[in-house]
Amino acid sequence: MDDRDAPVTAESLLRRMRAAPVLAGPLPHFDPRAAGPEPGPVFADWLAYALDDGVPEPHVMTLGTADAAGRPSARVLMLRGVDLERCAFVFASEAGSRKGRELAANPHAALTWYWPRHGRQIRMAGPVRALDADTARRDFLGRRDRSKAAGFTGLMSAPLAGPEAYEEERRRAVERVAAEPEAVPDGHTVYELTAVEAEFFQGDTGGSHRRLRYVREGDGWSRGLLWP
Ligand SMILES: Cc1cc2nc3c(=O)[nH]c(=O)nc-3n(C[C@H](O)[C@H](O)[C@H](O)COP(=O)(O)O)c2cc1C
Repeated sequence: MDDRDAPVTAESLLRRMRAAPVLAGPLPHFDPRAAGPEPGPVFADWLAYALDDGVPEPHVMTLGTADAAGRPSARVLMLRGVDLERCAFVFASEAGSRKGRELAANPHAALTWYWPRHGRQIRMAGPVRALDADTARRDFLGRRDRSKAAGFTGLMSAPLAGPEAYEEERRRAVERVAAEPEAVPDGHTVYELTAVEAEFFQGDTGGSHRRLRYVREGDGWSRGLLWP
């Protein structure tokens, strides 16, 4: 019997995970010594290569936040912009969501990207600030109606009673977007994480992984290798 037909158990999952290839390659080569003094251009090179090479959803990233007591949570978001000189990353969300509340209580956050086809992981960490209301407005009004309606459908991260409540709220939101095309939800917020630490991990099929870390120091960056 093939594992796919067998009942799913912890053991069968473990067996199948062990058999699943990781960093199988072929993977690109990365020479950390050839990387420049700032992380922004390295990020740009890696993202451009992922886009060129058809890596699925390379602009989807994981945002890790923590509440005031340091308890972490993470979720995936879309990268909506990048300032390469300042090494800053833009995303949009709802201020009343869990992440929005956590960021208000504790602005320190982390972003990660993983592109399996290239065996590449990028990590950025630093403080997050909410950009001004006009930026949030332009971001929201630039969206398709379907996405705008989602912004008016309930409160992100609040408990939902059931599918009927969702459908009802969604119907109202679609009507509202049609009736008031310039309306913007109060909590819609564009955030920017300015990296104070950046790391580029290049996996290697033979296990000689490379890690290059940049740490912001004054107006510049220091950089060094890390043991993989
Ligand atoms: C591919 C993908 C992209 C997403 N992009 C966003 C996004 O840009 N902004 C956002 O607020 N939520 C986005 N989400 C939903 C979040 O993962 C998450 O469910 C939501 O923001 C609530 O998170 P929270 O309860 O931790 O605040 C996305 C989900 C997926 C699967």
